[in-house]
Amino acid sequence: MENFQAVFAAEELDNNTARAVDVDGVNVLVCNAGGTFYAVINQCTHQASELEGGRIRNCFISCPLHGARFDLRDGSTKGQLTQIPLTTYPVRVVDGQVEVAVD
Ligand code: FES
Repeated sequence: MENFQAVFAAEELDNNTARAVDVDGVNVLVCNAGGTFYAVINQCTHQASELEGGRIRNCFISCPLHGARFDLRDGSTKGQLTQIPLTTYPVRVVDGQVEVAVD
């Protein structure tokens, strides 16, 4: 069973922004993409740069370093820089709090 942990209030994260949080030692990037929340590992699969600060449009995030694009829904890649998908984590909003499960 998933072990969800509250990370911050949903209203703290503006639309099309993301914030990195530590969840059980995992560096997770929580993204608000058009009002839908996603959680992915905060590490690009190209050259391991942090994804925090990357541009979010629709349900995609672009790595700030070289621009690799990932689908936040399933972590899949777009383009040629990397074919390795991002790890994604279950995320939900309960009573206004964003919750993430990493196990
Ligand atoms: S490290 Fe992310 S695109 Fe190169």
